[in-house]
Order: sequence, then structure tokens, then C-alpha cells
Amino acid sequence: MTTTTTAAATTATSSPMVLSLLLFASLTALLVLAPRVQQPLAPRPLLGGEQAPPAAEGSYAADLDTGAVGAEEDGADDLALFRRVTLDSGEGATAAAGAAPKVAFLFLTNSDLTFAPLWERFFSGHGSLLNVYVHADPASRLRLPPTPSFRGRFVAAKPTRRGDPSLIAAARRLLAAALLDDPANAYFALLSQHCVPLHSFPYLHATLFPATAAHHHRLPSYIEVLADEPQMLGRYEARGGEGAMLPEVPFARFRIGSQFFTLARRHAVLVVRERRLWRKFREPCLPESRLHSCYPEEHYFPTLLDMADPAGVARYTLTRVNWTGSFEGHPHRYAAPEVTPRLVAELRRSNGSDYEHMFARKFAPDCLGPLLAMADSVIFKD
Ligand SMILES: *[C@@H]1O[C@H](CO)[C@@H](O)[C@H](O)[C@H]1NC(C)=O
Ligand SMILES: *[C@@H]1O[C@H](CO)[C@@H](O)[C@H](O)[C@H]1NC(C)=O
Repeated sequence: MTTTTTAAATTATSSPMVLSLLLFASLTALLVLAPRVQQPLAPRPLLGGEQAPPAAEGSYAADLDTGAVGAEEDGADDLALFRRVTLDSGEGATAAAGAAPKVAFLFLTNSDLTFAPLWERFFSGHGSLLNVYVHADPASRLRLPPTPSFRGRFVAAKPTRRGDPSLIAAARRLLAAALLDDPANAYFALLSQHCVPLHSFPYLHATLFPATAAHHHRLPSYIEVLADEPQMLGRYEARGGEGAMLPEVPFARFRIGSQFFTLARRHAVLVVRERRLWRKFREPCLPESRLHSCYPEEHYFPTLLDMADPAGVARYTLTRVNWTGSFEGHPHRYAAPEVTPRLVAELRRSNGSDYEHMFARKFAPDCLGPLLAMADSVIFKD
């Protein structure tokens, strides 16, 4: 890298502008690519058998009073990454013209990727149509999945915590890395370690890129966008209310939706380039609201996209979740005995609409066995 930079500097000395751009480009290339060369994750010794349970998402809550990790300004490395997307043509339109569009799978995790073997079967044979990226909380000493798809796919990561904007920052980091990595990435699916596929990859690809769609650059983003939900006033107040959110986000424009989206490329670019709303949403919630009403990642993305391109979003997510009997902000977590072909069929179905869900959450680690057992006969048979 040093050699390249020096060479570039020598040839470009006549133009300070070109020089600084080149320096910038090589620096940011280093930042984006470095994690793939290094192996940031130390393998963890197995504790008490094959499947030591991953830290529950709830464990974040215990850390709440140690401070908001995402509340400060973006770091210089993040800024460089986001700016690089801005400098880049970003849209990927020219570079990807003619090439088969790809799906980028963005895994946001703070524990082992328990379902890696299932995802491996999902990806198998379709490597030319997809890319995998992982943002793993550096504080989590997770085991490397024993399968090839995740190897070397870890992006530069920072700590993430429930109840503060670090989850938004991590999603933005994943989007930026995936945008820069491959101009053929046309859809960006944000997933967690508790998510599983509900269909085969060819089925997903055909759904995202219907042969009948003449203009792939107008494909919709699949993100839930809801207004008038009962908890919204509390969530808005948690952000400091109008005093803190105006003028950018009046309550009437405030939206809610699952953070697990599948964004079209133009919207991924929009998110990474965006600064105005991010500046508001990366402020911490009011201290008294942080335990029960602070989920900025459920507001930033739907609010932004509903303001920027309301006609360009499907307003529903492709990731099914079961909120029946939810506890402390956690949805129902499926356990092995619940995993049946009937459940898969039920989770695929949407409620009253004609679309199907492509992914589902949350699944406990012990679901891996039953899911693998019916992978070919049920999940990927479509
Ligand atoms: C949703 O979770 C509840 C338990 O909280 C369970 O009884 C129900 O069967 C689940 N629904 C589906 C569709 O899995
Ligand atoms: C399905 O939709 C109906 C009416 O919109 C609602 O009452 C019901 O709770 C929904 N069920 C699920 C599982 O989301």
C-alpha cells in the first residue's frame, strides 16, 4: 500500500487535487479491505459442549449505563468510508450494466453465527450472484463459522449495543463496505445471527429481480414503514421530542419499522451519504427513556426513506418476526420443537397481502439441527 501511494504521489505531483484524491482513495481502500486480510476474530474455546448459547440480545441491556457507544461523532475511519461512497459513482449503474445483479447479505452480529451451515447450503452454487459481509461486535469473541462463505468477509467493526445508535452506525458501515466492494451488489439484506432463510436463493433472486421488471434501477426497497403505532409518541419523546428533533423530523414525519430491511442500491447509497437525519438520530435518548423506549434503529431508516422516496419503498419487510407474547422488546424466539415444515409455510405467508417472506427471526441455536434436516426437502424446495 505504501509503495502504491508513493508511486501515485510521484506521478501526480503536478495536480494537488488528483494527489489528494489518490491518497484518499488508497487510504480508504486500505480501511475497507484491511479486515479481510487480517483475521480480527480470535477463535473462542468451546465452553460446555458443541453449542454454547450465544449471548442473548438482552445482554446489551445490562450494559446500558456504561454509556452510549454510538453517540459520539462518526470516527475518522467511518467518515472516510462514507465519503468514499460519495466520491464513488456509488450508483453502480455503469459498472454493473449488463452484469447479473447480486444480493449482498449483511450480517450484523454480537455472537456466533450459529446458522452459518444453513446459510452455506443456501449460498451453495450461487456464489456469482451474491456477496457476504459480517459486522461482528469486536467485544464478542465469536467462533469463526466452519464454512467458507464467511471467511474473510468481516468488515471493520465497532462495538454495538441495544438501545443506542451504534446499531444504525453498524448498518451504515455494512452498507458502505458492500457498496464499495462490488458495483454489482444491487440489493442489501440486513440480517442478524438469529435470522434464517425461508426460501432457496434462486427463489429469492427471482423475486427481487423479476424478469418482467424493465428497469432494475427502479426496484423497490423492502423496508417496513409504519405510522400511527401506539408506541410512537413515547419513542419520539425518548429522542427529546420536538425540541430535539425539529426542524428535520417533526412528529408527523416520524416513522417506525423493523431494522431488518432489504434495500435497493440507490437507497443504500442514499443512507450512506445522508448526514442531516443521522446527526439527529445518533444523539442518545433521554436517560429515563433508554430502557424501554430507545430503539433508534427502528426509526432512522423508515423515517429517512419515507421522506426521501416514499413511492420507492414497499413499506413491508421480507423478514418475518413473531411479536406475539414479546418480552422486554424481544420477539418470540423459536426453539427446536417448534421447527416444523408447517412453521416454515406459516412464516412465509404474509398477513393479508400477496407477498412472501424470504427470511425469519428469531431462532434459538438448537434450531440448527431441525432446520438443516428439512433444508432440502422443505426450505429450499420451492
Ligand atoms: C408466535 O409466538 C407465539 C408464542 O409467543 C406462538 O404461540 C405462536 O404459535 C407463534 N406464531 C407463529 C406463526 O409461529
Ligand atoms: C394480521 O392482520 C390483522 C388485521 O390487520 C391483525 O389483527 C392481526 O393481528 C395480524 N396477525 C399477525 C400475525 O400479524
